[in-house]
Amino acid sequence: MSDSKIIVALDYSSEAQAVEFVNKVSPELCKLKVGKELFTAAGPQFVEKIVSKGFDVFLDLKFHDIPNTVMKACQAVAELGVWMTNVHAMGGQTMMQAAKEGVSHSSTKLIAVTVLTSMGQDDLKQIGIQVEVTQQVVNLAQLTKQSGLDGVVCSAKEVSLLRQNLSEDFLLVTPGIRPAGSATGDQKRVMTPAEAIKAGSSYLVIGRPITQSDSPVKTLEAIAAEIV
Ligand code: C5P
Repeated sequence: MSDSKIIVALDYSSEAQAVEFVNKVSPELCKLKVGKELFTAAGPQFVEKIVSKGFDVFLDLKFHDIPNTVMKACQAVAELGVWMTNVHAMGGQTMMQAAKEGVSHSSTKLIAVTVLTSMGQDDLKQIGIQVEVTQQVVNLAQLTKQSGLDGVVCSAKEVSLLRQNLSEDFLLVTPGIRPAGSATGDQKRVMTPAEAIKAGSSYLVIGRPITQSDSPVKTLEAIAAEIV
């Protein structure tokens, strides 16, 4: 495993575009995240390919289904040799424990999504959840910990609060990162890489600021230098 705290989101629609980026970077410089778009387009073979190049891969498929199905899916993910994968905490404790069982014969880390950062108070109300968003995030993070998982995906803005409620070794993986001066896009609550690390984030998930940069490698190196 490399020491890099930067996970680059390979949010490309084709394998060719992703390969072009991957060929320019090294496993020491960054980890790589494959999400639903690229996984659906390029498949498990692509994941195996980048794992075999030595990259730590976060397979971000956010499983949410009945426990047995999630367990089997997590087993299949672990067999790809990925470093990390995830489920939705809203699937409940039994589902998360089953997911953990699925990766238990491997070194694959398992984390959970609490409340999607695209969801606000009104969205929660619509699905029958009355508690405040940040309280729901804390509740689900605690349930994730009790279920034996390694950490959660959360907004960098939630890191300080979660660190107060959870142990030091619980992984907090944060998207919504924007180096000073870069476009925010559709991310509403952003933090710079240095701010997020200072707040207690374990790993930063960064997509467009790197992948859509004129010189992705230079941008990545500048971010890496900012957080050492
Ligand atoms: O391009 P950008 O840096 O916004 O990419 C962030 C990545 O993190 C995307 O792959 C997005 O799907 C993912 N993500 C997120 N918010 C979450 C969970 C995942 O932005 N709550």
